[in-house]
Amino acid sequence: MGARAPSGACTVIVGCQWGDEGKGKVVDVLAGDMDVIARYQGGANAGHTVHVGEHHIVLHQVPSGVLHPEKRCLLGNGVVLDVDQFFGELDGLAERGVDAGGRIGISTRAHVVFPYHKALDVAAEAAARRKIGTTGRGIGPAYEAKTGRRGVRIADLLDRARGADRVGRGIEWARERLRQLGADPDTAGTVEDSLALAHRLPAVATDVGDEIARALAAGKRVLLEGAQGTALDVDHGTYPYVTSSNTTAGGAAVGVGIGPTAIDSVVGVVKAYTTRVGNGPLPSAFDAGMDEHIRELGAEFGATTGRPRRCGWFDAVLAAYSSRVNGLTGIAVTKLDVLDTLPELKIATGYRIDGDAHSLFPACVRELERAEPVYETLPGWQSPTTEARAMSDLPPNARAYLHRIEELGGAPIVMVSVGTRRSQVIRGR
Ligand code: IMP
Repeated sequence: MGARAPSGACTVIVGCQWGDEGKGKVVDVLAGDMDVIARYQGGANAGHTVHVGEHHIVLHQVPSGVLHPEKRCLLGNGVVLDVDQFFGELDGLAERGVDAGGRIGISTRAHVVFPYHKALDVAAEAAARRKIGTTGRGIGPAYEAKTGRRGVRIADLLDRARGADRVGRGIEWARERLRQLGADPDTAGTVEDSLALAHRLPAVATDVGDEIARALAAGKRVLLEGAQGTALDVDHGTYPYVTSSNTTAGGAAVGVGIGPTAIDSVVGVVKAYTTRVGNGPLPSAFDAGMDEHIRELGAEFGATTGRPRRCGWFDAVLAAYSSRVNGLTGIAVTKLDVLDTLPELKIATGYRIDGDAHSLFPACVRELERAEPVYETLPGWQSPTTEARAMSDLPPNARAYLHRIEELGGAPIVMVSVGTRRSQVIRGR
């Protein structure tokens, strides 16, 4: 295990698989050392469960660091904000005694997801021959509107008349598109519905880039939290089975409005095995029996949609690719304990595609669909790891497994999670 990281003032946490790597837990552990926590992309498609006393709350948009009192939590310009859902989460937290309202800021440059984006998302999936398996949260249509220069930003909504005008035009556009998709244009909703909670935005709107730059200049520590994972990145993932934003570490600078030179370290989060929800290839997928077994052991069901996640062996081809694309300075491995009972484990170290050996993650999803993993087999440890708090507490075979992940992933392991509780973690050497 490498030196204790992150040591810099600005750290990015990024998922290195298909999302659901357990970033929320890693952020939760690291947030204690941070002053500011900011999300840089995605929207209500993300989901992580937080524990407030006896209650389990699923947060989709409020950053995971919110449960640490005193921390400033920000949503950058790269995020697409579902205003209703966001305030619903804040109100839900307040009812349970977590008053986050005064600590949360949203970039005035962030785009907004309206009910008509959700209607378009659902209609496009229903009409598609090749379905992506989206979360139905309007993410794709909101980012399409952004790059199509039809989007509506938080800044627009701060002026009621301007906001109503832009939303009205968005609804007209959506109605036309819904008709083309064979869907009911009335599902686009009304301007009034879309702007129902817009009056609450002035209290939270801010210049996120400026806040972060000032925090860094004052010697504070900033955590930039990614959603989804590298293989779902719109440029670097398994296109077209991806989300519509840059989930990778490069997206962090763009998505909060700071320069890349401000970033000191990048921690990539990998689950000790692989999961995927939604459509698209998963080369190292388990056979049916093992798939169900690990899904039960690891509670692998989507936090946003409840869909069962497909499960597979650790894919080191993807891990090495993610390491390069994100410029990882450290790796956090989660859910090691889920593998505690297995007699042996496999790691995919290469692919065979049409008979040829490949060590690089292919760009073409059709090739990836034909990829047959080349596996290395390691002995299991068959003893509980949930009480381990140092690497030396782990069984030797578990350490060997982690060591192999570190070698193949090309960055030192800086954290290992061995259970759902905040305390169930191994940090540093
Ligand atoms: P969208 O982001 O809703 O457009 O969905 C596009 C793809 O990303 C689908 O395969 C989703 O299942 C997947 N996806 C989106 N958000 C998450 C997430 O937070 N975890 C895992 N998969 C996600």
